[in-house]
Amino acid sequence: MKLQCKLIARTLLVTCLPLSFTLLSSQVHADAVRGKTAYVQNGCWGCHGFEGQGGIAGPKLAPETKPLEYFNAFVRNTRGIMPPYSEKVLSAQDMADLHAYLKSIPKGPDYTAIPLLNTP
Ligand code: HEC
Repeated sequence: MKLQCKLIARTLLVTCLPLSFTLLSSQVHADAVRGKTAYVQNGCWGCHGFEGQGGIAGPKLAPETKPLEYFNAFVRNTRGIMPPYSEKVLSAQDMADLHAYLKSIPKGPDYTAIPLLNTP
C-alpha cells in the first residue's frame, strides 16, 4: 500500500510538474493599456500613426491587425525601412502588449455614412 502511494505520488509529480511549468511559461498576459504606452515610448506612432492608422512613413497596423506570430516575426526580423526591434528593446511581454493595443483599436465608421465626406 505504502509503495503504491509512493508510486502514484511520483507519477503525478513527474507528469504534472513539467506540464504546469509549460503552461505558466507560455502564458503571457497581454495588456492593451501597457501596449499603448510601449507603442508611444518606442516611437511606433511616428511612422504608423497614434491609432495605427498608417501614414506617409508606415502602413496601417489597425484595425484588422495581423496575427501575433506574424507581428513578432516581422518586428524582430525586418530588414526594410523599418528598424528591427530585438528582445533587448522589446520583451515578449512588450510585443504581446503592443499587439493587444493594436487589436483593441476599433474600426472607424464607414466614410460613406459621414454626410460631410459625401457632399458633391
Ligand atoms: C521609421 C519608421 C517606422 C517605425 C519607427 C516603426 N515602423 Fe513598423 N513599419 C514601417 C514601414 C515602412 C513598414 C513597411 C515595411 C517596411 O518597409 O519595412 C512597417 C511595417 C510594420 C509591420 C508589418 C505590417 C504589415 O502589414 O505587414 C508591423 C507589424 C510594424 N511595422 C510594427 C511596428 C511596431 C510595433 C513599431 C514600434 C515598436 C514600429 N512598427 C515602428 C516603419 C516604421
